[in-house]
Amino acid sequence: MKYGYFDDKNREYVITNPKTPVKWINYAGTLAFGGIVDHTGGALICRGDPALNRITKYIPQIPSSEFKGETVYLRFKQGQGYRVFSPFFVPTLAPYDLYECHVGLGYTRIVSQFCGIRTEVTIFVPLGGSQEIRDIRITNVSDRSLEIDAIPLVEYTHPDALKQLTNADWVPQTMQGKVYRDQDGLAILTQYAFMNKDTQVNYFTSNQPVSSFESDRRQFLGDNEYGTWAHPLSLERDELSNYQALRGDNIGALLHRVGVIRPGETVRLITQLGQAESVAQAMPSIQGYRDPAEVGRALEELPAFWDRYLSVLQVETPDAAMNSLVNVHNPRQCYITPNWSRYLSLYQLGYGARGIGFRDSSQDVMGALAGAPQEAMTLLRKLLQVHKRNGCAMHQFNPLTMEANEGDSSEVEGAPKYYSDDHLWIALAVTAYLKETGDLVFLDEAIPHYEKDGGGRPLESGTVLDHLRRAIKFTWRDAGAHGLALLGFSDWNDTVNLGAGAESLFTANLFGKALLEMIELTQHLGDEESLARYTEYYETMKQRGNEHGWDSEWYVRYFDADGTPLGSSANTHGQIYANGQSWPVISGFAQPERATAALEAVRQRLNTCNGIKLSTPGYDGFDPIKGGITTYPPGAKENGGIFLHANPWVIIAETMLGNGDRAYEYYRQINPVAKNDRIDEYECEPYVFPQNILGDEHPQFGLARNSWLTGTASWAYQAATHFILGLRPMYEGLLIDPCIPSRWDGFKATRQFRGAVYQIEVVNPHHICKGVTSVKVDGQEIAGNKVPVFGDGKTHHVEITMGKMGL
Ligand code: GLC
Repeated sequence: MKYGYFDDKNREYVITNPKTPVKWINYAGTLAFGGIVDHTGGALICRGDPALNRITKYIPQIPSSEFKGETVYLRFKQGQGYRVFSPFFVPTLAPYDLYECHVGLGYTRIVSQFCGIRTEVTIFVPLGGSQEIRDIRITNVSDRSLEIDAIPLVEYTHPDALKQLTNADWVPQTMQGKVYRDQDGLAILTQYAFMNKDTQVNYFTSNQPVSSFESDRRQFLGDNEYGTWAHPLSLERDELSNYQALRGDNIGALLHRVGVIRPGETVRLITQLGQAESVAQAMPSIQGYRDPAEVGRALEELPAFWDRYLSVLQVETPDAAMNSLVNVHNPRQCYITPNWSRYLSLYQLGYGARGIGFRDSSQDVMGALAGAPQEAMTLLRKLLQVHKRNGCAMHQFNPLTMEANEGDSSEVEGAPKYYSDDHLWIALAVTAYLKETGDLVFLDEAIPHYEKDGGGRPLESGTVLDHLRRAIKFTWRDAGAHGLALLGFSDWNDTVNLGAGAESLFTANLFGKALLEMIELTQHLGDEESLARYTEYYETMKQRGNEHGWDSEWYVRYFDADGTPLGSSANTHGQIYANGQSWPVISGFAQPERATAALEAVRQRLNTCNGIKLSTPGYDGFDPIKGGITTYPPGAKENGGIFLHANPWVIIAETMLGNGDRAYEYYRQINPVAKNDRIDEYECEPYVFPQNILGDEHPQFGLARNSWLTGTASWAYQAATHFILGLRPMYEGLLIDPCIPSRWDGFKATRQFRGAVYQIEVVNPHHICKGVTSVKVDGQEIAGNKVPVFGDGKTHHVEITMGKMGL
C-alpha cells in the first residue's frame, strides 16, 4: 500500500492517506523555538530545552487516533445541532473526500475536504520566530452557503515535561489560563505555570473575533471528561464557557463565528501559538502576524532559506530516487540533525538526560557544513567547549546551559568514564569544515576546555588546533594489551560495554582516519614535525591492527580485557561486525587483499535486501559481560539489526576500492525514497532515513524505527556526494573522483565551493566505475582531478571524462 508520493517539483512529499502505519512528522522552527508537527496536525512545540520548557502536550505513546498537542475543529449547523469535524482527520475521524499532507521544507500544509468544505492549513514557524503559525483557509466548495464556526485548540503541558507525567496534583495546581480581550473582539488566551507567570507566558491567539473560549480540558470535553476529543460535548453548545482556569489540565480553544461562506468563497483565519515574557512584550509580533500579508512574507522566506542551503549542491543522475534524496530530503535531514541532535522526535522524547551528544553532533555537523557553514562553526565551538584537558570529551551536554555529563558511563560503577571515539570525531568534523570553507583562521581560535574552577571559570584554553592535537594524543596514549585503542566505556557502538582493559578495533581505525586528516592538515600547514609524528602514529597503529586484528577472513571487532576476541569466527554469536570491516578500509589500515576479503565477508554474511546488518548472528539472551547489545532480541537494533548509520561506511569503503556497482546497490537498498511502495513493511517516513531497520533474524524484517535523528543522514549524504559522486572538498580545491555504477553514462552536478560555482558534467563513455582520464575547466585541460579554488563569484564549467589509463 502507498500512503503518498514525492512531488519533486515542489520539494514536498504528499501524504494522501492519513492512516499511515505510524505518525509521520516534519520539523518546524529550531531548538530555540519549534518542534515536530505530525501529518494529522498534532504538534509538540518547545522553546529551548524540550525537557524544561515544553509548551504542548504530545504523548506519542497514545494511539494515533487521539489528539496530540494541537488541532482545529470546524462545524456548521445541521438540523438542531452541529456537524463537527477536524480538517486534520484526527481526532474526529470523519469520512473525508480529500486528504493531503504536504511535507514541505520548513512547513507542513494539510489540505482536506469534508462535507463540502475545503480547508488548507499551513503550519510553520517563521525564520528566527518564537511562534508557531497556522494559516487556515476555509473554502466552501459546495453549492450552498454554509455558516461555519472554527475552533482551533491547543493542549498545554507543564513546562517541565517530566513533571507533567510524574505529579498529577502539583502540576494541575500550578497551571493557569487567562484571557486578554483585545480590540475588535480579538482575544489572547494566555497560559502559564504559576511559578513562571512573570517570565514565561504561552499565548494562543488569532486574527478573527473570538465569540467564546475555553481554557480547561474537562469543561471542553464535558461530562467529567467522558466526552471525548472525537466528540467534545461543549461543541454541541453554541458557545464555549469562557472559563478562565485557575488550575487543571489547561487548553486553549478559541471559538470563531466565521459566518456565512458562500459557494466558492474562502475565509482565512490565522492562529499563533507562542511564548513571551508577557503579553505586552509579545504584542508587536502578535499584531504583526495577525496581518495575512505579514504571514505570507514570513512563509516566503522559508523557500528562500532552503534555496540558499540546498543550492550548494544539486545533482542530476540517472536515478530519480537518488536525485530526490540528494537534492532535497537528505540535506534537509542533515540540517535537522545537528540542530536537534537526539533531543526531540517521535522516538527521542526530550524528557531530559541526553541533550546534545558529542559524537552524534560531531558527525551530524559534517552533513550540514557545506550549506550552513556558519551554523556548523557555532556548533563546533560548542562541542570544543566540552572537550576535556586530557583530550577526551564529555559525552553529552545541554547546549543552553553548556553543562555536560559522562552519559551512561556515569551510571555504571567501576566502568571507564569516557567513550573512546567521542573526541576523535571532532578531528574529522573540524577538518571537514576547514576543507569546505578554507577558513584556516578557525584553527587559531582559543576555546576553553570543559574543566572549570570554583567560580565557573575555565581552567585552560587552547586553540582549535591544540584541541585536535590533544584528542589525538589521548588515544595514542590510551592503548591496551595489543597496543590497540582501549574501548573506554564504549566506542561508537554504545551497547557493547566490556569494561576496563578491553580494546576496540573500531576506535583504532577511527584513530587512523583522524590521523589521516591530521597528516593532510599538517602537510597543508607545512608543519613537518607534526607530520612526521602523526605519520609514525599512523604506521604504528596500522601495523598493530593488522598484526592482531585479522581473524582469517575478516577483521575482529574488539578484544575483551582478557584478550578474547569479539567479532571472530571463534565466537558463536556476533561473529562478524560491519564496522569491523568498513573502518579498516576507511582508515587505510587494511592492505588491498584484506580490504577486499573483509568487504566480501560483509556481502556474504551481513548484507540483506533492506540494508547491511551491524553484526551477525545476533546474541540470544542477556549476557551481563557484553551488556546492552544482548538486551535486544536477535535482529533488533545493534544486535544484528540493520543499524543504518553503519551502512554508508560500507558504501564509502566500497568506493575506496573502486566498487561503484556495489556501493550504489548498497546505497539504493537503503534509500528511503525507494521504500515508498513497501511502507506497510517499513512503516516510517519514506522521506528521511531511520536509525534502525529490523534485520532478517527478526520476524518483522524490514520494519524501520527511530526516523529523523540519526547519524545516517550525515553519512549517507557524505557517501553519496563525496564518494559515489566523488565531489570532495580538499584544502587546495574540489577533488572530483566519482565511483558510480558502471551502467551510468555519467551525471551532472552544480556545486558551490568557496565563492564560485562549479558546473560539473561527468561522462562515462567506457562504462567503468572509477577512474578519471581527462578534466577540463572552462575548456582547458588541467592536470589531475583536483579543480582549483576560484573564489571569483563566477560559474566555471568542469568536464570530467571517466576512463582508465590506456583506454
Ligand atoms: C545511537 C547513539 C549513537 C551511537 C549509536 C550506535 O544512535 O545516538 O551515539 O553511536 O546509537 O550505538
